[in-house]
Amino acid sequence: MTQAFVSERIRRLPPYLFARIDELKQEAIASGIDVIDLGVGDPDVRTPDKIIERLKSAVHGEGAHRYSSYSGLPRLRKTFASWFEKRYGVSLDPDREILPLIGSKEGIGHIFFGVCNPGDETLLPDPGYPVYAAAATLAGAISRFFPLRSDRNYLPEIDEIQKLISPRTKMLWMNYPSNPTTAVATEDVFRSMVELAKDNRLLICHDTAYAELAFDGRKSVSLMQIPGGKETGVEFHSMSKTFCMTGWRVGFAVGNGEAIGALAKVKTNLDSGIFLPIQEAAITAFTDCGEEAEGIRKRFEARRNSFVSGLNEIGWKVPLPPATFYVWAPLPSGYSSMEFSAKLLKEAGIVCTPGVGFGDNGEGFVRMTLTVPEDRLALALERIAALKVEW
Ligand SMILES: Cc1ncc(COP(=O)(O)O)c(C=O)c1O
Repeated sequence: MTQAFVSERIRRLPPYLFARIDELKQEAIASGIDVIDLGVGDPDVRTPDKIIERLKSAVHGEGAHRYSSYSGLPRLRKTFASWFEKRYGVSLDPDREILPLIGSKEGIGHIFFGVCNPGDETLLPDPGYPVYAAAATLAGAISRFFPLRSDRNYLPEIDEIQKLISPRTKMLWMNYPSNPTTAVATEDVFRSMVELAKDNRLLICHDTAYAELAFDGRKSVSLMQIPGGKETGVEFHSMSKTFCMTGWRVGFAVGNGEAIGALAKVKTNLDSGIFLPIQEAAITAFTDCGEEAEGIRKRFEARRNSFVSGLNEIGWKVPLPPATFYVWAPLPSGYSSMEFSAKLLKEAGIVCTPGVGFGDNGEGFVRMTLTVPEDRLALALERIAALKVEW
């Protein structure tokens, strides 16, 4: 097949590492296996009723069908600002420092176009959410990866990062609570990253999609809480996980006014705002669904407790994730992450994600999600227990 209609930048995107697992999954389904999909981070739990009801009523509103403003309803931006103040004690200017997004992934992808020139460099965590590197490639930026290691609690190490900085380095990406490692970061970590960013004139981009899914009484930290954080950084928030709204596509970015403005300019030229009834529903979520969000968090915490203790009883020594709805599980010896994922699928009908898909440093791990019902997680445990593996 020719590639006459495929751009260089698309050709430069890395091959789809999960393709083999996908193929095996389709084969397993076709052969009648009852597949338990712990591969995708997409909650089975329903969006809270109040949010759905608000969407329904707003759809009938006058003008609901029309284009919305690029920067979102002023009431929506104010709602994000009040929530931020309450949650983190940080005040943000709703006109300059907050931008609604069509899901945080949209903003994460587009900010590269607003900030980087072709050939600029961006520092990315390995393992990390693959969208950062893909977006860098699409924008013509170059990715430099710094390692996150289990023996350092998956926190960035300053000297490793410093080695990678060049005069063309523009951005430093962080993601806490982290996908896939589930790690959380303390204020000290953010403080040292802010210093590093200031010294080297970098923009910190902090992806905090799992901010509200921290467990055991932890409260995740916002970059905006750190002195200098707002000036040196942009932070991406998502409603997808907090309120189980993955398909609704709504999130927001906060932080440095200049970078937020650049992102807004990209978006003005590429999209036409969030569907108005979804904005109304988002306002309801942030003003009236605190208890529901807490219920969602507790549900994932309970699933984490029973699934991870079940794994440990079987003999698979997996640490308790401090946050997110993922389990980042070290492999028994003798397997690569692709091999073990293929084994889980073939012999137990369980889909998981091979760690190497998140970067070279993800090798040695698989990621499993807690986004299927409790009885399916229990069945997954039974099947894992029946595997012939030397844990
Ligand atoms: C680390 C991380 N960031 C961002 C996102 C994107 O979330 P959304 O675009 O639904 O807000 C995801 C989704 O899985 C994620 O895992």
